[in-house]
Amino acid sequence: MIVYLNGQYLPIEQAHISPMDRGFLYGDAVYEVIRVYHGTPFRLQAHFDRLCESLAKMRMDCYPTVLEDVPKRLLAENGLGGQEALVYLQVTRGAAPARHHFFPAPETKATIYGMAWKFTPNPVWLNPGMTVITLGDDRWARCDIKTTALVPNVLGNQAARDAGAHEGIYVRDGALTEGTLSNVWGVFEGEVRTPPLTNYILPGIKRQLTLDLCRANGIPVREAPIFAHELAQAEELFISSTPYDIAPIHQVDGRVMPAERPVTKRLMRLFADCVAKETGA
Ligand code: PDD
Repeated sequence: MIVYLNGQYLPIEQAHISPMDRGFLYGDAVYEVIRVYHGTPFRLQAHFDRLCESLAKMRMDCYPTVLEDVPKRLLAENGLGGQEALVYLQVTRGAAPARHHFFPAPETKATIYGMAWKFTPNPVWLNPGMTVITLGDDRWARCDIKTTALVPNVLGNQAARDAGAHEGIYVRDGALTEGTLSNVWGVFEGEVRTPPLTNYILPGIKRQLTLDLCRANGIPVREAPIFAHELAQAEELFISSTPYDIAPIHQVDGRVMPAERPVTKRLMRLFADCVAKETGA
């Protein structure tokens, strides 16, 4: 695998990062994951815009323009032209001579890393759909920043796995926030609903796209809380995320959802059309 590290493309075995790197010591870093359909990165600009926002929220004032060419070059270097893939980009606050919590000297260079790999979606995610469990949201209060400090998400995703599920959906103060790596949606009396953007939710690229698809196609939609006690009344549930696209929820906490899911199916079709239009996939 050829990766990108601080301006160089090199075999992953030769990509060395200092143990003093703040990404390693503190998780003091931000990242993006970009979906590639048939060799074309999807909504790249939106990912760069969000990366910029994450950097600003972290007070890392270094927009890495160098990264803009990295996804395409990584795909080419790794023979992923025309393929389904994921691209990962990460920017850390860099390596400093000493470990201290406060920021290192301003001249400290950010560490900039990128990798790409072939991605094969699991057909089960779409049919019959995702199995999910609900989890207490024990994360910090800045989930709007796409930071690599993801221990709660790692533990939450593993808890879902341990329960035989694909994804865990967080619940805070009785309301759903998001999944461990996805945004969550419900359909109630024909209206699509997703939790509003707050500091407890990542502004997902595919969340925004799903909202746009609803609005452009006359599907009633509202950004409003979904309470855990309402799950039993949901006509449909689904998630959105870079790897999962729009994926129906088949089972939540052991309860099987109705097999007809007209709104989710319509959104999945609209989504596929949008991908085809933008990427030729
Ligand atoms: N995660 N919420 C969380 C906590 C996420 O980690 C993600 C994506 C999303 C969905 O955002 P988007 O539509 O932009 O992918 C929501 C990526 C895929 C990851 O961590 O691997």
